Amino acid sequence: MTYARITGTGGYLPDKVLTNHDLEKMVDTTDQWIRERTGISKRHIARDGQYTVDLAEHAARRALEAAGRDAQDVDLIIVATTTPDRVFPSTACLLQKRLDRHGCAAFDIQAVCTGFVYALSVADKFVRTGSAKCALVVGAETLSRVLDWNDRSTCVLFGDGAGAVLLEASDEPGILSTHLHADGAYEHLLSVPGGVSQGYDSLNDGKGYVTMKGNEVFKVAVNTLGRIVDETLEANNLDKSAIDWLIPHQANIRIIQATAKKLKMSMDHVVVTVDEHGNTSGASVPLALDVAVRDGRIKRGETLLMEAFGGGFTWGSILLKY
Ligand code: COA
Repeated sequence: MTYARITGTGGYLPDKVLTNHDLEKMVDTTDQWIRERTGISKRHIARDGQYTVDLAEHAARRALEAAGRDAQDVDLIIVATTTPDRVFPSTACLLQKRLDRHGCAAFDIQAVCTGFVYALSVADKFVRTGSAKCALVVGAETLSRVLDWNDRSTCVLFGDGAGAVLLEASDEPGILSTHLHADGAYEHLLSVPGGVSQGYDSLNDGKGYVTMKGNEVFKVAVNTLGRIVDETLEANNLDKSAIDWLIPHQANIRIIQATAKKLKMSMDHVVVTVDEHGNTSGASVPLALDVAVRDGRIKRGETLLMEAFGGGFTWGSILLKY
């Protein structure tokens, strides 16, 4: 049986750092409020002229290097992003050009904060069915570009970054199961309510910005992530104790703690980057994975549970042997 296995990871964060103290000077907030309610202390922000594809390229090159592969080995490129550089071509095609790789399939996936989980799940299907042998899967975002920097209820939460993995065909177990869900009935709770077809002009002084009913999103996220953990364990006939590492979407430390509690997992086995990165949307899971692989916490053969929740609503999980 062919499995899809992660053979390399990469991450990239822009140099520019915005701390909670910086935000205190911009909106009516405090470092204490942000830390207590979200766990975030700082986030990285793309500088002017630095785009999603720039972040994606850095992360992709690092993943290729970690796997000992060249861009020419890649036969599928998927970029999960909610903040593409252009209406078209896709950010995946722009990345493909940067990598000087011609001809292989390349496309974007838009599932907001669940984007990388969706993208990795799709890549898994390509690899398992023999349609691809070496997939580059990237989550890359410049969420700072869709934030209203006068709105304290949203601008303190997000950051920019990119994470990537190389996913290759293997006889050894890699991805064990993927679980994807969505419910568009919740679109009004978390949205950028403008865009190409609807037009940006009538909204938010002419721009499309993130709008969110934070406490309602919070409640649904906690319940939904609890359910998807159960679904994933049941599908694999596994007990909670079989999970070595939880790699959650990094939106809020209190949501992460609730999922860890559901799994009866010590926070020592949960990868947390939200304090340093904020919520980087589709980049948050691969960035967290890369951090814990590179610092030696996650080791080959360990069982990882990735989960994410985001606008749509979308949610999903992936169980894998690293
Ligand atoms: N600084 C200070 N006060 C703030 C603030 C800020 N940055 N943002 C909001 N507040 C205020 C609100 O105005 C409100 O004041 P009021 O009581 O006078 O009306 C108060 O803090 C409480 O607001 P509330 O929204 O109920 O706080 P909360 O405990 O729910 O925390 C979030 C807010 C956004 C941190 C939390 O709801 C959350 O994380 N939600 C999920 C968000 C998320 O994960 N989104 C992405 C999903 S991928």
